[in-house]
Amino acid sequence: MLPISRGVARYAPTVYDRGMKLFLDTANVDQVKEVAAWGVLDGVTTNPSLVLKEGHDFKKTVLAMCKHVPCVSAQVTATDFAGMKKQGEEYASWHKNVYVKVPMTTEGLKALHYFRSKGIRTNTTLIFSAAQALLAAKAGANIISPFIGRLDDIGEDGMGLIAEIMEIWHQYDFDCEVLVASTRHPVHIVKAATLGAHICTIPYEIFKKLPLHPLTDIGLQKFLKDWQGVKK
Ligand code: G3P
Repeated sequence: MLPISRGVARYAPTVYDRGMKLFLDTANVDQVKEVAAWGVLDGVTTNPSLVLKEGHDFKKTVLAMCKHVPCVSAQVTATDFAGMKKQGEEYASWHKNVYVKVPMTTEGLKALHYFRSKGIRTNTTLIFSAAQALLAAKAGANIISPFIGRLDDIGEDGMGLIAEIMEIWHQYDFDCEVLVASTRHPVHIVKAATLGAHICTIPYEIFKKLPLHPLTDIGLQKFLKDWQGVKK
């Protein structure tokens, strides 16, 4: 691959660097279709709470999402290694775009290690410390998901954790992407990109805010109004 400077394909204008991946944090297929049509969506993260909220069949939901994005996280609900292995293997058999989401526990670490050896891709959920991030990456996770909003909720510094994890990641060559999860507002997304996080997952209500700016609306109205006065 030809070299790409940050954000600018200097030597090869046809190489398309899309920067930080944007995922939708949802179990709603219509939301995935809508945002995927913008050309900016790289994946989806689901979790049992989001699936409960939508109330639809889990497998059908995951398979429908796999038609629109190359990465869909499906979370195991077993808490022991044997159960995670069984559930994860089943999920992975559904579609090549499925990433098995595994909780950050010692049983989860065993499962991450096993899935890596089998070529089943994983996302580690419920990461709240740099030590947990390090262990999950070492065990073989393809993605780790630190939950920044939930840390902020209890008075800790969620984005500070991302900065710490990215600093560790810069020292090594982990084949493991850092996914900023539990985002609460657009500033979280911009800050995640500033820190060089690989992926950010975003709830639908926040994703819809990202393209908006009042000056864009005001400016467009003026352009359209002035165009009416242009002699054709
Ligand atoms: O998908 C996991 C994560 O993003 C959950 O976010 O808002 O429930 O803390 P939240």
